[in-house]
Amino acid sequence: MAKHHQIQSVSGILTPIPEGWESSDLEGMLISESKLQSRVKVLASEIANQLPSNEPVVVLPLLSGAFLFAADLVRQWQFEFELDFIGLSSYRTSTRSGPIEWIHRVKADIENKHVVIIDDILDTGQTLVEATKELSKLHPATIQTCVLLEKDVKNPRPLSCHANFVGFKIPDIFVVGYGLDFALKFRQLPFVGVISPNCYGTGTH
Ligand code: IMP
Ligand code: MG
Repeated sequence: MAKHHQIQSVSGILTPIPEGWESSDLEGMLISESKLQSRVKVLASEIANQLPSNEPVVVLPLLSGAFLFAADLVRQWQFEFELDFIGLSSYRTSTRSGPIEWIHRVKADIENKHVVIIDDILDTGQTLVEATKELSKLHPATIQTCVLLEKDVKNPRPLSCHANFVGFKIPDIFVVGYGLDFALKFRQLPFVGVISPNCYGTGTH
């Protein structure tokens, strides 16, 4: 299991929003751009080190939340691999999770290849479980999962919900930025932030 950076509690750990990005919708910054970038580099080499060399690899970022994380991660890899996108929608209303549906199925042939699934955040875990279950039916050689963030949820997730590689462990709060959205907004922030409580209940995604 890869080592990750534990972020202990919310109060006191939020830092001011970087200049130019200030907004009344944002409470504070949880992970800075420089911390994200240096952790992504380490994660990229951790993942690369455990992939067998000279065997076919297919990298599958999950749409849409993983788009920035995956873009930074894959640009660290100088070995050859196929990249395709998969999409699962969890019918989330506001900040809550709901039933899950495939919106973009894999196009790549993954049989006998080493699959790396990249997602933005491990919350309930149902997205990764569904992705892993469906992709296993296509007989890949191995499946590894990587998430930028893992929420420290109260109820422990079943073992099947774990990710092989985790960027940061964070408290059980709703975060935005670096690909993660609230009502489809805030994805472009180069850092991970926390939205103000007065935003909750105003949007769906
Ligand atoms: P799951 O509950 O682990 O299946 O997470 C499903 C998806 O919910 C993630 O891939 C994210 O797109 C979204 N999600 C979960 N928690 C957050 C959050 O704190 N901010 C933004 N999106 C989230
Ligand atoms: Mg989302």
